Parts: sequence; C-alpha cells; structure tokens
Amino acid sequence: MALLPILCYPDPRLHTVAQPISSIGEHHQRLIKDMFETMYESKGIGLAATQVNHHERLIVIDISEDSSNPMVLINPTIIKYSTEIIRADEGCLSVPGIFDGIERAKGINVEFLDERGERKMLEAQDLLSICIQHEIDHLEGKVFVDYLSSLKRNRIRTKLLKAQREVDRS
Ligand code: NI
Repeated sequence: MALLPILCYPDPRLHTVAQPISSIGEHHQRLIKDMFETMYESKGIGLAATQVNHHERLIVIDISEDSSNPMVLINPTIIKYSTEIIRADEGCLSVPGIFDGIERAKGINVEFLDERGERKMLEAQDLLSICIQHEIDHLEGKVFVDYLSSLKRNRIRTKLLKAQREVDRS
C-alpha cells in the first residue's frame, strides 16, 4: 500500500472530467487500497480518484467515526434527489483548511458498482448524501468552492497559492 499525493486547489487537473470504468482490474484494486489509506491518513471521509490525479469514475467513502464502514462506488449515478435541501459546512482534502456552507439535496438514490463489479443501489441521507454528492462532483471536475461567490473563491485561491509557495520554499 502507498500514500498518494493529493492534488490541491487551484490545480487545473481537479477540473478534469473522469472516464467511466468498463472493467475492474487488478490496478483498480490497488488504487482502491491506496485511496483508503490516503483518505484515512488525512482524516477525510471521502476521496475521489480525481483528487489523486487518476481520472476514472471511482470514489471511496467512510463516514464512520472509527474507520469501520469503507464504501467503494464505481461509476456512481444519482438517479433521484430529494426536494428537501440541507445546508452544511463542507471541507475537502484538496482545499485544506477551508470550510464553507453548501446547499445539497438532503437525500439521494445512487446506483453504482461495488469493488467486485456488482450493481448496487443505495438510499443516502444527510452526511452520507452530502459526501456522495461532493465526491461525484469531483468526478465531474467540480470542487465545492465552485459553488461559492467568485469573490470568496478568489480569496481561497490566493490563500492556497501563497501557502503552496511557502511549502515549496521550505
Ligand atoms: Ni473533496
């Protein structure tokens, strides 16, 4: 297993639209293991392949407190959104240290393949619903800050670029 480098906003590669996976191979199993390790190490609750610069439609999620509920969603598609909306503070491993309120559907129905290639359907609510929507956005090349005003987004961009320059210099 290996820790993978996570792309950091405003890296343009975060805006790549990921490709569907037609057959799940040995390299996908390795990628899934590495993505879980990377996500747990970074204390995240979700990670999309896009964030580790791998542009296929694969996400890993674990919203449990004790890393006990790993979920793999391959080629996920949301087939139903609740009309009820919730607003919650979101963060992202690709946008370190930034949190802001985002509106999402409170509930979704999502279809996907699991890591064995079996078709699954899941009804998700609240945090899991938010997390799945956030990760699927990554596969579409969208980062949560894209929902914020351009003023806020530019401030975040400047702050993160400055932080990255300081890391590069040290
Ligand atoms: Ni994210």
